[in-house]
Amino acid sequence: MCGIVGAVAQRNVVPILVEGLKRLEYRGYDSAGLAVLGDGGAERLDRVRAVGKVKALEDSIQQLKTEGQTGIAHTRWATHGVPSEDNAHPHVSHGVIAVVHNGIIENHEKLRTKLQELGYEFTSQTDTEVVAHLVHHHLKKQKDLCKAAMAAIGELEGAYALGIISRDEPHRLIAARKGSPLVVGVGIEERFIGSDVLALAPVTRNVIYLEEGDVADLRRTEHTIYDASGKKVERPVRVSEATADAVDRGQYRNFTEKEIFEQPKAVADTLEGRLGKGRILEEAFGVTAGQIFDNTKAVQIIACGTSFHAGSVARYWIESLAGLPCNVEIASEYRYRKHVVLPGTLVVTISQSGETADTLAALQQTRKLGYGHSLAICNVPESSLVRESELTLLTRAGPEIGVASTKAFVTQLTALLLLTIALARRHGLTAEKEKQLVEELEQLPGRIQKVLELSEEIRALSERFVDKHHALFLGRGVHYPIAMEGALKLKEISYIHAESYAAGELKHGPLALVDANMPVIAVAPNDELLEKLKSNLQEVRARGGELYVFSVKGTGVRASNTTKIRMPEVGEWTSPILYTVPLQLLAYYVALAKGTDVDQPRNLAKSVTVE
Ligand code: AGP
Repeated sequence: MCGIVGAVAQRNVVPILVEGLKRLEYRGYDSAGLAVLGDGGAERLDRVRAVGKVKALEDSIQQLKTEGQTGIAHTRWATHGVPSEDNAHPHVSHGVIAVVHNGIIENHEKLRTKLQELGYEFTSQTDTEVVAHLVHHHLKKQKDLCKAAMAAIGELEGAYALGIISRDEPHRLIAARKGSPLVVGVGIEERFIGSDVLALAPVTRNVIYLEEGDVADLRRTEHTIYDASGKKVERPVRVSEATADAVDRGQYRNFTEKEIFEQPKAVADTLEGRLGKGRILEEAFGVTAGQIFDNTKAVQIIACGTSFHAGSVARYWIESLAGLPCNVEIASEYRYRKHVVLPGTLVVTISQSGETADTLAALQQTRKLGYGHSLAICNVPESSLVRESELTLLTRAGPEIGVASTKAFVTQLTALLLLTIALARRHGLTAEKEKQLVEELEQLPGRIQKVLELSEEIRALSERFVDKHHALFLGRGVHYPIAMEGALKLKEISYIHAESYAAGELKHGPLALVDANMPVIAVAPNDELLEKLKSNLQEVRARGGELYVFSVKGTGVRASNTTKIRMPEVGEWTSPILYTVPLQLLAYYVALAKGTDVDQPRNLAKSVTVE
């Protein structure tokens, strides 16, 4: 989704801004732009914008020889108004004020009318342009950029991360956040802002995470932060874990491929320090975790997209292994309906980014509803979700750059299995069973590696999907959410329409779709539902459907119209994690063969920070 970078320094900041934008490209965007102020006094604000990739912006910058010591830059993911140069940020008011913005200004129409009455002319369809004019309007009275920005912010409703500069104060940068992430980078005699620490990794690791409602007044050698009430506050400078090479795709063709093949290590890292001798170390969840788990009587999982699929797997685990009622819900639905709150319910949010607006809002909603404790399963230690949750289990997948979530998903599942074991201990899980589960978890990285060895076979198979327009994914029980995830991956990166069904549902409707043009992909582990699933597959065969079945040796799924992809050995509980990997590979190779933008699929954003 939209990205912000800003800098106030003594050197030319244009290369820093461009590099920062490149590091944010993975978040998804459709246009980019920057505005800079030169050092030569109060007369120039230069703005360059381009539709498409940051490369297009870079080309224009080179042609125009744009330079400056203070600047703001942005990648835009269209919400209000089509992707176009006019709608790209920064937005400028009277050649004086330039603004970049992430989020949505909900009362922009009202503000637009008011500003038009005051004589302001609008050149874009965006909600952001009102902010530029508002700051300009307040500056007339306040005569100080920070005060004018604060007065303008006081009129805004909605969510924002903002970067603001003024032609008339060339060594100053104002930043503000509410509902959208923003960090301040503290360099040596220079200051930066970024909507993601990754954007600042090449210039500084010293960062301040702005809190809700904060406004930061930045100059090269100093910064002042005001909280939501306008009071001066001190925010700690932390050392970010993001390194400059964190977004290097190494020997791989793209980040998605890298991230799929990194999964054995990502899972091993997620388990590191969390397994003892035959037992899990539940202190990993936080010091108060033990007491909270003792009192947990039910679990409410909330997440979006792939993270929701991870939660859907966990529901099967928690109910069958821990015997606790577990509900899982899509965050955007959860936040807008009435709930029956069961006492002793632990709220578990799952998110790769920890900045997903719907998930954050749903967590806040649970608090209003009076739920007790919250646990975040998250990949970004400094994220809003982690900061707002009582307990955290980090997934340690490392930065995930590909928009399609891959290694984040398998590490979420790994973390959720740890949670399940922690809860199950209190509900009859024997030490012997826990030991078996721990052994299974220890074998997981090696087993994922074995599944990755299927890549060449799956790549060859993927060619058969290139001309298809639809695909059906089937699974049963705990593997049904894996079929859901397989379908999401295929549609997301290859643009093939894919549906997933619990295989028993086929005959209740979707069977009507099955013919020779409809590939049907089945997840068929050797579990207690295998025979039921085989009957469902017969229903497909009988209608001339073309089947691709992922299954282990000796399950008897080979038959006419069927391609079997033989999975290596899988463990009983970690099976859903292992069956995920070939489906990721399938989606990836189909996308590669179709030539889509695998890392940044059209219309999508990595971190969905708007509702
Ligand atoms: C998955 O491939 C997606 N890109 C998407 O569904 C994602 O999982 C969803 O937007 C939630 O993101 P989060 O995990 O960062 O909260």
